[in-house]
Amino acid sequence: MIELVNLHKSFGPKQVLKGVSLIIPNGQTTCIIGKSGSGKSVLLKHIVGLLEPDEGKIFVDKKNVAELNRDDLFSMRQKMGYVFQGAALFDSLTVWENVIISLFEHGIKDDAILDGEARRVLSAVGLLPDISESGSASFEKEYNILRDKKPSDLSGGMRKRVGVARALVGSPEYIFYDEPTTGLDPVTSEQIDMLIKDLQQKLNVTSLVITHDMFSVFHIAHHVAFLHEGLVQFEGTAQELQETKSPVVREFIERFILKPHD
Ligand SMILES: Nc1ncnc2c1ncn2[C@@H]1O[C@H](COP(=O)(O)OP(=O)(O)O)[C@@H](O)[C@H]1O
Ligand SMILES: [Mg+2]
Repeated sequence: MIELVNLHKSFGPKQVLKGVSLIIPNGQTTCIIGKSGSGKSVLLKHIVGLLEPDEGKIFVDKKNVAELNRDDLFSMRQKMGYVFQGAALFDSLTVWENVIISLFEHGIKDDAILDGEARRVLSAVGLLPDISESGSASFEKEYNILRDKKPSDLSGGMRKRVGVARALVGSPEYIFYDEPTTGLDPVTSEQIDMLIKDLQQKLNVTSLVITHDMFSVFHIAHHVAFLHEGLVQFEGTAQELQETKSPVVREFIERFILKPHD
């Protein structure tokens, strides 16, 4: 479980988070919604330790992140997979290199291990057949073609899947997705939603999805938090979100229904 307690964060005079408290329960998908610029990515960067709060606490599995030593911080990060906003692949690297880069950076050079992990995660995101077919002629053929492709050879949806595959390396307990469907067409967006849902169920990971796409929320969320003017202004199920009478939340939902891609 991840717990945020009274997080404050400013950049210069700009107060972005003004006391955010939120629980992200295990084994579920939590969506954080809010307008562009409302602080969703900033919030996520606090959870993964890329930013430190000015005030407030972050607990991961009951441990206060600010009190962890280097080794504990390292093992905490091992439990987390991060799908960055945009596809965020390295254009000059192959699919294979993009996927296993974190293992490589941790000094793992054994090709059998790297290949095994690449096959597993690329299969999990649907870019290869089921992993049980690994070793069969058709699996190997597809793997050999895919591994050497460059991001520019792939569609937007495939690039996103490679980004998700990279986050699955090392079997994290938590996966964070920052705007996973932004910039994708509606059909591809729905496929990525299905993937998020499928991975959550199959791998029983805890997923946190930052989005401003209400279609995604209704497809995937068990739990929703609405971030507005530096505070969580609503927390509940997707059903409760639809029924809420809170004017700021209603305005956000209704505006989206009228202008989905704003
Ligand atoms: N590193 C930074 N330095 C200064 N301002 C930042 C930084 N990161 C984010 N901000 C500002 O914080 C606000 C929230 O940003 P962000 O979390 O990226 O919004 P979003 O909800 O769209 O993800 C924005 O006004 C942004 O300009
Ligand atoms: Mg953002």
